[in-house]
Amino acid sequence: MIYLDNSATTRPFDGVIEAMASSMREGYYNPSAAYGPAIAAEREVRACRRAIAEQLGAREEEIVFTSGGTEGDNLAILGAAQALRSPGVFACSDIEHPAVAETIARVERMGHEVLRLPVDARGVLDLAACERLLSPRVALVSCMQVSNETGAVQPVEALSRLVKRIAPGALVHVDGVQGFLRVPMHMARMGVDLYTISAHKIHGPKGVGALAVRGGVRLAPQMTGGGQERGLRSGTLNGAGIVGLHAAVREMAARRAEVEALRGMKRRLLDDLSGLPGVTVNGPLPQEADSAPHILSLSFEGVRGEVLRNALEAEGVIVSTGSACASHKQKVSDALLAMGRTREQADGTIRVSLGLMNAPGEMDEAAARIASACEQLRRYRRR
Ligand SMILES: Cc1ncc(COP(=O)(O)O)c(C=O)c1O
Repeated sequence: MIYLDNSATTRPFDGVIEAMASSMREGYYNPSAAYGPAIAAEREVRACRRAIAEQLGAREEEIVFTSGGTEGDNLAILGAAQALRSPGVFACSDIEHPAVAETIARVERMGHEVLRLPVDARGVLDLAACERLLSPRVALVSCMQVSNETGAVQPVEALSRLVKRIAPGALVHVDGVQGFLRVPMHMARMGVDLYTISAHKIHGPKGVGALAVRGGVRLAPQMTGGGQERGLRSGTLNGAGIVGLHAAVREMAARRAEVEALRGMKRRLLDDLSGLPGVTVNGPLPQEADSAPHILSLSFEGVRGEVLRNALEAEGVIVSTGSACASHKQKVSDALLAMGRTREQADGTIRVSLGLMNAPGEMDEAAARIASACEQLRRYRRR
């Protein structure tokens, strides 16, 4: 099988599995307890905090462990909304993952005003439009670092500068679920106040992640109880998950050059498809600086993405039609529509996403199967 759905989830590194198994066998103590083995477990948690902070240009005490990307996004946005004394303005880009988009919609139902920031035809935030739309009343702006659908890298640093100029008190939240350890992030330098990560997108385990919260940012906790994580996220820490997250962070950081080399594989796949007519890339092209190394969105004229995905699965190639959560609902992508794609184009789209387990030769195989499946489906359509 050729697995090309790494934006939905990645296969854990062997080192992650081993570290987690040993944590469950020998390091299972509650990190909040006061006896020796528990203190050793707490030390492991701290080491993970330090490793994440180091990658983000943040401080160890700014890292709050969560159950993953969705929770991190919820804590950032709902937490900021509930910490306000009076209604404010909340903004997010038009192409956010539902973990942000639906949470912003919830904030709107809570009585706050909401702004949706447009993207251009390449799926990149339109900063000139942002400048026109934002006002000093803005309380929080949320923008993903890398689009999970197109791989477009968003200009978060320029956005943050703009936000802080127009609304100096506003918070900038970046959903870094697809960007973390693939695209550089330095929270202090880039003016990012809140940054979400998720372990299972970086060859770590599912159900664990973190929200980095810059010192001085006030959030209302979404989970109350024993007061863990400085009161921001109660609940016994997921010790084995955190150990796995740490192993994943270490290995991804050590293999940075290989992560960047995925861009070459993306180009190879696209070059291999150059003989096939009616193919459009959604988002920046692989050779462009604002294209993330691992995600490629392709629309095929005269072919339904869902049918192509199923045909490819039968040939041993796993891709998706969009984000994993949307693909069960069989709905065309709002992000592609926001980029000005027609319904037909959006419906004819598949997403190919690469991870460190992929090999360059797989690109040629996958491209050959994509081309042959497409030709076959187009022939049927013409009949
Ligand atoms: C951009 C983005 N944000 C948030 C999430 C949700 O993360 P999790 O699956 O860890 O809840 C995803 C998952 O696909 C994502 O791609």
